[in-house]
Amino acid sequence: MYNEIDLDKIDVSHEPPTQEPARQYYFMAKCREWVREFEQKNGRRPCFFVQTFGCQMNARDSEKLVGILETVGYCQAEKEEADFVIYNTCTVRENANNKVWGRLGYLNAYKKHHPHMKIALCGCMMQEAEVVEKIKKSYPFVDLVFGTHNIYKFAELLETSFVQEGRVIDIWKDTDKIVEELPIERKYSFKSGVNIMFGCNNFCSYCIVPYVRGRERSRKPEDILAEIERLAADGVVEIMLLGQNVNSYGKNLKEPITFAELLKQIEDIEGIERIRFMTSHPKDLSDELIEVMGKSKKICRHLHLPLQSGSSRILKAMNRHYDKEQYLSLVEKIRRAVPDIALTTDIIVGFPGETEEDFLETMDVVEQVGYESAFTFIYSKRTGTPAAFMEEQISEDVVKDRFDRLLKSVQSIAAKKAELYTGKTEPVLVEEVNEQDQMLVSGRLSSNFMVHFPGTEEMIGKIVNVTLKECKGFYFYGELVE
Ligand code: 5AD
Ligand code: SF4
Repeated sequence: MYNEIDLDKIDVSHEPPTQEPARQYYFMAKCREWVREFEQKNGRRPCFFVQTFGCQMNARDSEKLVGILETVGYCQAEKEEADFVIYNTCTVRENANNKVWGRLGYLNAYKKHHPHMKIALCGCMMQEAEVVEKIKKSYPFVDLVFGTHNIYKFAELLETSFVQEGRVIDIWKDTDKIVEELPIERKYSFKSGVNIMFGCNNFCSYCIVPYVRGRERSRKPEDILAEIERLAADGVVEIMLLGQNVNSYGKNLKEPITFAELLKQIEDIEGIERIRFMTSHPKDLSDELIEVMGKSKKICRHLHLPLQSGSSRILKAMNRHYDKEQYLSLVEKIRRAVPDIALTTDIIVGFPGETEEDFLETMDVVEQVGYESAFTFIYSKRTGTPAAFMEEQISEDVVKDRFDRLLKSVQSIAAKKAELYTGKTEPVLVEEVNEQDQMLVSGRLSSNFMVHFPGTEEMIGKIVNVTLKECKGFYFYGELVE
């Protein structure tokens, strides 16, 4: 098990092992030698800065990067002015890419005065051939580039970048490999993401994820359960099961198992108090899962169920495999089985060919469902996806107008939904001392709403009862119930 491996006992005078993860521990031991040399020369340890863009999957991947960097002896810097900076990138929408290009400009200027600094890029954006070409051509100051499929090789790539002249670029097109048991440094001591599957097979026509994250691969249930047991023993009370489409978990395993079955087994793990998961595709949400959610004491009363569009015509063009009526009846079924469930969603505005009528269908679903919260996105053309070739891309001003109307509706409905919680006393997992007001702590309800209330640092990681006194739209002020 990784936390039992002593890097100093690894003999690095021999060739590296071919088996994983042993190979990566060998390279960690090598990196540690390099870090020690740096320390002797400079009188301090080298420091790193990891910047994460995008979703919770990337956040979890970054914890793996941090785990390795800390294991080899780096210390964490507060700012980008560090010896090693790595951006874990996202490419789901164009503006995610633009943020990275913008930050790189700044890093280049900093590196000019600190030439020993190393800059690395990884994550989804690196899986795009044009991006890598652009880096090769116009960003010579980037030292290390790798993708989503070989992130487990980070230690090896880091070591290569220490010993090799010039930059290191290693991108894989796809993989069927899942390498377990590498160091992970959790951001929070009391909650953790847990990957249950990687990749996506759905090919929604607007989405680049299947191209950059590859085909669906589920982790074995015994590996997932063992990881969660370890986390529970280490003080974790809340887990978030992560996958692009958790509802199709286990279908392609040698011994298939359903997501609902996996949840039942996780529920039995002592010490875990709350279970969340993300993301659920409506087309794969089974009756079995609804039943398990209804009976569960630990699965949070929150379901993120991306709608994307309320128009059956657009949903078809999006390749979503459900229509407006099917989505609405699914919501009804869930609400019947789990009446106190909070529903949240993702919506795209301005998909190619979207008419005013299509948009009004989306507005109608938003009103009928009454989401507790919704992420609204302007459609972003992603090169290589089928939607990018569709005619009738919608003009910017029409999209902007629809987006504003949708946002207004979503916000006013969400505020009304939140208001219904006012006066209730709810269990809250305390997450942190409030940044603005040190007298307050902030935590989350099972429904995922945030509440701030008077409290102290010692409460962090504990589940306490809080009366929701005042609703502020999408968060609350509360009071601890002793
Ligand atoms: N344009 C806009 N939004 C997108 N999403 C995915 N691809 C695109 C795109 N090309 C949104 C979807 C998805 C969320 C994670 O990002 O709503 O659910
Ligand atoms: Fe993208 Fe659709 Fe897969 Fe979600 S389900 S990651 S939107 S292709």
